[in-house]
Amino acid sequence: MPLSDHHQTGSTAQLLELLNTAVLLLDQQLKLVYLNPAAENLLEISRRQVTGQYWPDVVKAGAALVERLNETLEMQGPFTERELELHTASGQRMTVDCTVTPSVEGNLLLEITQVDRHLRIAHEEHLLVQQQAARELLRGIAHEIKNPLGGLRGAAQLLESELDGEALKEYTRVIIGEADRLTRLVDRMLGPNNVPENRIINIHQVLEHVRSLVDAESYPGLELLRFYDPSIPEFAADAELLVQAVLNLVRNAAQAGARKITLGSCTQRQFTIGHTRYKLVIRIDIIDDGPGIPADMQERIFYPMVTGRAEGTGLGLSIAQSMINQHQGIIEFTSEPGQTVFTIFLPLEVAHD
Ligand SMILES: Nc1ncnc2c1ncn2[C@@H]1O[C@H](COP(=O)(O)OP(=O)(O)O)[C@@H](O)[C@H]1O
Ligand SMILES: [Mg+2]
Repeated sequence: MPLSDHHQTGSTAQLLELLNTAVLLLDQQLKLVYLNPAAENLLEISRRQVTGQYWPDVVKAGAALVERLNETLEMQGPFTERELELHTASGQRMTVDCTVTPSVEGNLLLEITQVDRHLRIAHEEHLLVQQQAARELLRGIAHEIKNPLGGLRGAAQLLESELDGEALKEYTRVIIGEADRLTRLVDRMLGPNNVPENRIINIHQVLEHVRSLVDAESYPGLELLRFYDPSIPEFAADAELLVQAVLNLVRNAAQAGARKITLGSCTQRQFTIGHTRYKLVIRIDIIDDGPGIPADMQERIFYPMVTGRAEGTGLGLSIAQSMINQHQGIIEFTSEPGQTVFTIFLPLEVAHD
C-alpha cells in the first residue's frame, strides 16, 4: 500500500502498520487481537492465522511471562522484560526485549525488539572485565603514587622550616602545593571503592542537591529543568555516592555545551539488571540537548581515561558507573546530536520467583 493512503486516513492504527517495531495487542485472556506487519515478520506468523489465538502458545512463552502478563492486567502498570526467549512459527528460538503496557480498554500492548542474547551478555561481560582491569590498573598506579607523596610533602615542610629566605620558601610551597594536588587526584582515582554507607533517603533530595551545585557553577545560558514523580518511595542508599554519580552526568552534559538539561525521575516495574529481575526500580533520566557523544566514542565511554575534552580526566563516567553498580544499579545511555539521555536504574524491590 502506498504511503499516501496512510496519510489520508491518518488513523493511529495505520501508523502501527508502518512501524519497524513489532507491536501486538492482546485481550484480557491473552488472545491476539492485533499484530502489525513488523510483528508478523519477526515471529513468522500471519495475522489471519493467529488472530484470536492464545498468544503464549503461539510463541511458546514460558509460564513466568504469562504470570507477569496477568500481573500487569491486575496492577495496570507497564513493565519491560529483557532477554525473553520466544519461538517463531518455524520453531526458531529468539531473544527479545518486550515492553508491556496496559491499554485503557484493559488490553495489553506489547512492543517487541529482538536482541541477540549471547552477543549482548558476551558484550556486557567483556565490558565489565575490561573496566575492572582498567580500574585495577588505575588503583595500582594511584597507590604507587600516593605512598611517596606523603614523604615528599613531609620533607618539603621540614626543609621549609629550615629556610630563612622567603624567596626560597616559594619553591617549597610549590612542592607542597603540587603534592597536595596529586594527592587529591589520586584520592579521586581511589575513591569509588569506598563501601557505601546506606541510609534511608529521598531520591529528590539527591537530585535537588545536584541541581543546586550545577546551578552554582553558572554555565552561561544553561537551563536546568526537572520532572519528578513525587510518589517515589524512600529507600536505603548512600546519598553522597548518588550525588557524585548524578553530578558527573549532569556536569558532562553542561560541559558538552547543552542549553537545556532535564532531570527526570519515575519508577518502573519489572526490570532486569544483569541476571536479577526487580519488581520495582527507580529510574533517573538526565536529558540534554547538546551535540551528543561521537559515535566512535560511544562503545568506550565508560572506560577510565576515555575523554573527549582537552582538560578531561575520563574518570567521571567510570566513577559514576561504579557508584551506581555499588547500589546494584546500572547506567545506560542513548545519544544523538541534540539529544543525549543518560539513565540510572536503581533497584527497589527484588522479584522472588
Ligand atoms: N552528555 C554528554 N554529551 C556529550 N558528550 C558526553 C556527554 N557525557 C559524556 N560525554 C563524553 O564522554 C567523555 C567522558 O566523560 P567522563 O568519563 O565524565 O570524563 P571527562 O568528563 O573527564 O572527559 C567526555 O569527555 C565527553 O566527550
Ligand atoms: Mg566528566
